[in-house]
Amino acid sequence: MAEFETVNFFKDRAIQDDPFAYYDWLRSQHPVWQEPKYGVYMVTGHEEAMAVYNDATTYSSCNTIAGPFVKFSVPFEGDDVSDVIDEHRHELPFSDQLPSFDPPMHTAHRGLLMRLITPKRLSENEEFMWRLCDRQLDDLLDKGQCEFISEFASPFTLLVIADLEGVPESDHGAFKSRLTNLIGGPTSHNPLEFLYDQFTQYVEDRRKNPRGDVLTGLATATYPDGSTPEAKDVALIAANLFAAGQETTVRLLSFALQMLGDRPDLQKRVRDDRSLIPNFIEETLRIESPLRGQFRMARRRTTLAGVDIPAGASVLLLPGAANRDPRFFENPYDFDIDRANARKHLGFGFGIHTCAGAPLARAEGRVTINRLLDRTSDIRISEAAHGPAGDRQYEYLPTYLFRGLTNLHVEFTPRHEAVNV
Ligand code: HEM
Repeated sequence: MAEFETVNFFKDRAIQDDPFAYYDWLRSQHPVWQEPKYGVYMVTGHEEAMAVYNDATTYSSCNTIAGPFVKFSVPFEGDDVSDVIDEHRHELPFSDQLPSFDPPMHTAHRGLLMRLITPKRLSENEEFMWRLCDRQLDDLLDKGQCEFISEFASPFTLLVIADLEGVPESDHGAFKSRLTNLIGGPTSHNPLEFLYDQFTQYVEDRRKNPRGDVLTGLATATYPDGSTPEAKDVALIAANLFAAGQETTVRLLSFALQMLGDRPDLQKRVRDDRSLIPNFIEETLRIESPLRGQFRMARRRTTLAGVDIPAGASVLLLPGAANRDPRFFENPYDFDIDRANARKHLGFGFGIHTCAGAPLARAEGRVTINRLLDRTSDIRISEAAHGPAGDRQYEYLPTYLFRGLTNLHVEFTPRHEAVNV
C-alpha cells in the first residue's frame, strides 16, 4: 500500500493505535527494511530479530531507547565505530541503565541483579502477590466495576516490585504516591530521582546497620568477581527494576483481562481449566507485546538477511511484528490458547538482555488471572466505556516504545466465596 511508504512509525498516531497492517506491509517489503524517515532498519521477521538479539558483539545496546534521535557529539566514519560507541555512549539518554549496557559491563551488572532475583526471593515474592492481589480485590469487587489499570494493575505491579526489593511496608504508601506513572504521566518530579535517592539511603543504612532483611541482602550483594559495588550502582539497579518492570506488566495484565472480557468463550475455558493460564499469558504476550521495540546500533558494517547495514546504523527490533511472523507462527492473527510454540514469542526479548523480570511478570499474570476468576463468576468489558461487542473502542498509549491500553473499564459479578489466603 502506497501510504505505508510514507508512514512515520515514530509519530503516526494511527500506527500507534493499530500497527499490525503496517508490520505486515513492512515484512512484505523485506523482514529487514530501511525506513526512509530516519534511516532505521526495521526488523519484523522472527528469525532476523533472533539473529540480532543473539549477536551482542555486532550490535550494541547503547541506543536501545534513544534510537536514532540522539546523536553522538562526534560523527561516525568508516566501517567500524566501536571506539566511538565505547567513548561516547554516556552521551545518550538512559546510558546508566542496564538495558543499554554492553559486555563486559553488562555481564557484571546483570550478574549483580540476578543475585537479587533468586528463586527463593521470587517464591517469597509470589506469596506476597497472592496476599496483595486479594487485598486489592477486597476493595474493588463489591463495586461491581472498575478502571482496571489505575485501580488494580498499577498499584499491584508497583508494590510487587517494592516487595521483591524488600521495601518496608511502611514505605509502600510513599512509593505509591511518588511513582504515579513512570512513562510520562503528569508528575512534578522525576520518579527515577526519587528511587535513586531512596535506594541509596537504604543501601548506605543497611551497610552500616545490617538487619538480615532483603534490603541488607541488596546492600551487601557483590559483583560476580566478588567486588563490592558503589551504593549508587546498587540504587541504579534497584530503580531500573521499577522502570523496566512496572508499566510493562501493567500492559500485560490489562491485555489479558481485555482478552477475557472480549472473548467469553476463552474466559469459560480458562475458568474451567486453570492449567491453561500459563499458555494464555504467553499467547497474550505474543499477540500484544507491551514493549514495541528495542533499538540496537551496528558496531561495524554487517549484513542481516542479505541487507547491508552500515556501521553506526540504528536497527529496530519489533517484537510485536516478529510475534506475528507467519513463517514462525501459524495463523498469527488467531489468539490460540493451545498454540504449541506460544512461549517462543519475543515479547521478553532474547539473548543477553532477555527480560530479567520475566518470571515475575509471568507470576503476576498467573496470580491475577487466577484470583480474578476465583472471585468472580463473570468478567465483562464495560459497554458504556468501550462500546458493544464487535464494535469496541480502545485507546492506546501514544508512544512508539510501548504498546498498551490507556484504560480498561470492566464489570464483574463478584462471588462471595471463602477467601483462601
Ligand atoms: C510483561 C512484562 C514485561 C515485558 C513485556 C518485558 C520486556 C522486556 C524486554 C523486551 C526486554 C529486553 C530489552 C532489550 O533487549 O533491549 C526486557 C529487559 C529487562 N526487563 Fe523486562 N519486561 C517485563 C517485565 C519486567 C519485570 C517485572 C521486571 C523486573 C521487575 C523486568 C526487568 C527487566 C530488566 C532489568 C531488563 C534489562 C535486562 C538486561 O538488559 O540485561 N521486566 N524486558
